[in-house]
Amino acid sequence: MKAEILKMLRESDDYVSGQQICEKFGVSRTAVWKAINQLKEDGYEVEAVRNRGYHMIDSPDVITLEELTSQIDTVWAGKLVYYYDETDSTNIRAKRLGEEGAPHGTLAVADQQNAGRGRRGRGWESPKGCSIYMSILLRPEIPPVKAPMLTLVMALSAAEGLKESTGLDAGIKWPNDIVLNGKKLVGILTEMSTEIDYINHVVIGVGINVNMTDLPEEIKGKATSLRLEMGQVVKRSPIIAAVMRNFEKNYSLFLETQNLEKMQEKYNSLLVNREKEVRILGGKEEYNAYALGVNKEGELLVRREDGTTEAVYAGEVSVRGIYGYV
Ligand code: BTN
Repeated sequence: MKAEILKMLRESDDYVSGQQICEKFGVSRTAVWKAINQLKEDGYEVEAVRNRGYHMIDSPDVITLEELTSQIDTVWAGKLVYYYDETDSTNIRAKRLGEEGAPHGTLAVADQQNAGRGRRGRGWESPKGCSIYMSILLRPEIPPVKAPMLTLVMALSAAEGLKESTGLDAGIKWPNDIVLNGKKLVGILTEMSTEIDYINHVVIGVGINVNMTDLPEEIKGKATSLRLEMGQVVKRSPIIAAVMRNFEKNYSLFLETQNLEKMQEKYNSLLVNREKEVRILGGKEEYNAYALGVNKEGELLVRREDGTTEAVYAGEVSVRGIYGYV
C-alpha cells in the first residue's frame, strides 16, 4: 500500500484526499495516516492540509522497494523488483533468482555491494547509498550466439535513460561503456547460463556512478559520477525507471529482427568512438584503425590503414581511443 500511495501522491499535481486513499484501498483513515507517517519517517516530505488532503513536496534519494515500484512504469522490465540494502553482487542475486524460476524481467537492485564484479575478472567499487547497482534477468528465446548483442541493447537503453532522467548527453564507448566528458560513468556486465543451443537465462548487470564524490585512486583519471559532472546530488530511482522503460522498448525492437537493425542508427549517433582513430586491443594483433560505427550484429566496423574494412567482434577485443580512455 505504501508504494501505491507514493504513486498516487507522485502522479497528482493537486492534493490527494485521505478519503480517496481510504476508498482505493478499503482501509481506515487511521491506516492512511499511519502509512503517510511511515513515508515521512523514510524521508518523504508530505504536506497534510485539513479538508484538502496530502501533497508530496519532495522525496529523498532512496531506492527502497516502495520507491522503485512506485517509479517503474513498465510492463515487464523491472516490474518485479528484489531490493537489497547490502548484497554480494546483484548479478549473483539475479542469477540465483533465475535458477529459482523468477520471471523474465525480474530486477535485482542493491544500495551497496560487497563483492561487485566488473568485466575481465575485475571488481566494481560499490559503496553504500550513492550509486546504482542493478541486474536484470532475461529469458530470451534466441540462439546463444546472439545474446552478446543484448549488452549493446542495454548500453543504448542506459544512455537514453540517462538523457531522459538527467538531460545529460552521455555517449557510448563500444561495445557497452557509457561515458561523459571522456570518462566512464556506467559499466555493464552480461553473464549467461546456456546449453549448447539454448539459453537458460541472461543477466545484465548495470553499475551507474551517481553520487560518488571520492573515486578510488586507480580509476580517478578515467571515471566520473553524475554528481561530479552536474555539481549536485542526483536521485537514483527515476534513472532506474527510465533505463527500464528504454530497455523494454529496445528489447522488443531487438526481438523483431534478433539483431540491432532497428536501433543501429540511434546507437551509432551516440557512439563516441565513431569517426575516430581507435586502437584495437586483445585480438590476435594490436592495430590502429578508423572506427566507422556498428553493423546490425553490433560489431564495430573499422577501416584499417591499408584501406580495408573489417568487423571487430565484441567478445574478442576491446577498443581504446589512442589519445586516452575514449
Ligand atoms: C565493467 O567492468 O565495466 C562492468 C561493471 C558492471 C558493474 C555492475 S554493478 C551491478 C552488477 N553487479 C555486479 O557485480 N556487477 C554489475
